Amino acid sequence: MQISPGDIGLVARVAQLTKSYGTGSAAVTALDDVSIGIRRAQFTAIMGPSGSGKSTLMHIMAGLDNASSGRVWIGDTEITSLRDTQLTTLRRRRVGFVFQSFNLVPTLDVLGNILLPFELDGRPPSAEEHRWIDQLIDTLGLRDRIRHRPHELSGGQQQRVAIVRALGARPDLVFADEPTGNLDSRTGREVLALLASAASDYGQSIAMVTHDPVAASFAERIVFLADGHIVEDRGRSTASEISQYMLGMEGVA
Ligand SMILES: Nc1ncnc2c1ncn2[C@@H]1O[C@H](COP(=O)(O)OP(=O)(O)OP(=O)(O)O)[C@@H](O)[C@H]1O
Ligand SMILES: [Mg+2]
Repeated sequence: MQISPGDIGLVARVAQLTKSYGTGSAAVTALDDVSIGIRRAQFTAIMGPSGSGKSTLMHIMAGLDNASSGRVWIGDTEITSLRDTQLTTLRRRRVGFVFQSFNLVPTLDVLGNILLPFELDGRPPSAEEHRWIDQLIDTLGLRDRIRHRPHELSGGQQQRVAIVRALGARPDLVFADEPTGNLDSRTGREVLALLASAASDYGQSIAMVTHDPVAASFAERIVFLADGHIVEDRGRSTASEISQYMLGMEGVA
């Protein structure tokens, strides 16, 4: 597939992306010739069975891992050819990431973790960003945990800290790997509404991995992976339509 670099409708994209791990008989192809773009100001859900390549795709799109072959862009910048320092700066300014494992810094308290992206970028949050971060902290119920360290928090609280950290600077692009996996359904819905509004009200582009059809029903686009391939790419769907499709997938596998 030919994607022109001037295509401003896409905020991140990969072309003919292949990723293999290991060599010889231990080799695993996690992604096999994947081409896809994440659309600007859209909330995209990425679904598929465990091991289908979802996290690998998000890590490579965010510039956190290298492709084995193929090309990767963030905005109009092809990151496959960037030096590490340039890539780090670009990622820091433009990309927020909620990892499956949260990746909080154990020696920093909640506030320190939330402000880390600003610290690394060498600038304090603006007054507006401060207000937004305060609002996120309240919405996600973290106010009375602000001076706690990650090991003093529940899994769901750690996940919420990771979400505030990823959204705090309102990056262009947010990758969230199962951001509601450890949350009760009410908190989960709040996070999903927050992600949907980040896209619709603030023009941020959100790519979210989820196994949950209800979570995916908040998205405007749903992409399914199976065995390192994209097998379906559809518009907004109800939770029951998504469940139905997933059942069909299992039947084929
Ligand atoms: N560092 C690694 N070394 C070797 N194999 C890996 C590595 N990371 C991932 N894989 C393999 O690549 C494939 C895709 O993994 P990936 O983590 O992208 O799956 P996933 O779709 O995110 O699954 P899950 O839903 O369980 O999180 C799997 O077969 C996995 O075992
Ligand atoms: Mg994963």
